[in-house]
Amino acid sequence: MKTKKSEQHFDTVFQKEIHEGLTAFPKYISSKWFYDKTGDQLFQQIMNLPEYYLTGCEYEILDTNTAEIAQLFSDKEGFDLVELGAGDGKKTKVLLQHLVTNEMPFTYKPIDISQNALDSLENDLQKVFPKLDMITQQGTYFEVLEKLCKRSSERKTVIMVLGSNIGNLNHENAIKFLSDIRKCMNPKDLLFMGFDQKKDPSIILSAYNDSQGVTEAFNKNVLKRINSSLDADFDLNSFKHWPIYDPETGTTKSFLVSTKEQKVSLNKLNLEVSFSAWESIHTEISQKYDDHIVNWLAQEAGLEVFVKFQDSEEYFTDYVFKKI
Ligand code: AVJ
Repeated sequence: MKTKKSEQHFDTVFQKEIHEGLTAFPKYISSKWFYDKTGDQLFQQIMNLPEYYLTGCEYEILDTNTAEIAQLFSDKEGFDLVELGAGDGKKTKVLLQHLVTNEMPFTYKPIDISQNALDSLENDLQKVFPKLDMITQQGTYFEVLEKLCKRSSERKTVIMVLGSNIGNLNHENAIKFLSDIRKCMNPKDLLFMGFDQKKDPSIILSAYNDSQGVTEAFNKNVLKRINSSLDADFDLNSFKHWPIYDPETGTTKSFLVSTKEQKVSLNKLNLEVSFSAWESIHTEISQKYDDHIVNWLAQEAGLEVFVKFQDSEEYFTDYVFKKI
């Protein structure tokens, strides 16, 4: 017997959202579900792809402006460097190296949703920088910001969000995210955030459609995850990875397109999903920006751009924001 939508019970947010997205029209799955253990590994591989210019560009920015950035962050009483979505910390290391070598007093507080990623980061950093003062914290951005807001210390806080992670949010949610961060900032606190810039559309498209098919595997991995955790039978070979870039809106969208008419069973959800031939599942947005859009987002959130840093190609920008 079929259960009515309103009566259906879900054990997890994952179950609820997958059900919601696959019974909607058009179908969608949020990119936040990409990051299981395999997804984390595939994203690490993406960051090393020649086509995925974002990582190299931001590394260049941090590497060429280390001293200036460290100076901006520093404070007589020391500061807390809170990194949201720290991952493997490859880019942050350049900055940490400088701060440690120059004995600038600070505490590094990397935050990630993956405990796995945090453990290996902590291990790695303790080896490289035995003197580094570090406190890791596992959680979602939302949980972590709530804690940060309740802090009692007057110490300067620098919040860092690298990698254009904000690009997974549409403008409305990006403003919400920035406003949430702003609520936790004191007047002398800073927000250091990376935004991938609009550029030649073919360069952007290649970054999401690499020749080795790693991004394809990354996109399809969410179906694999659904197969294993919801006892489903998605046939990965009958879905096509299809990213598009719209230069008007600056939005890269990724889809999985069903190459034939098919039915998929999600046994744990007691759900059968029908696909028409060439029907899509929207899985990700990766927004691209320019100064104009970033200034607008900042202003809507009650922030202002204080300074910015770019790579030599001007593909990527790290902006430093203050509270208005
Ligand atoms: C981690 C959200 C910045 O959108 O560029 C990489 C994720 N997706 N390739 C991005 C991703 C496909 C990435 N972010």
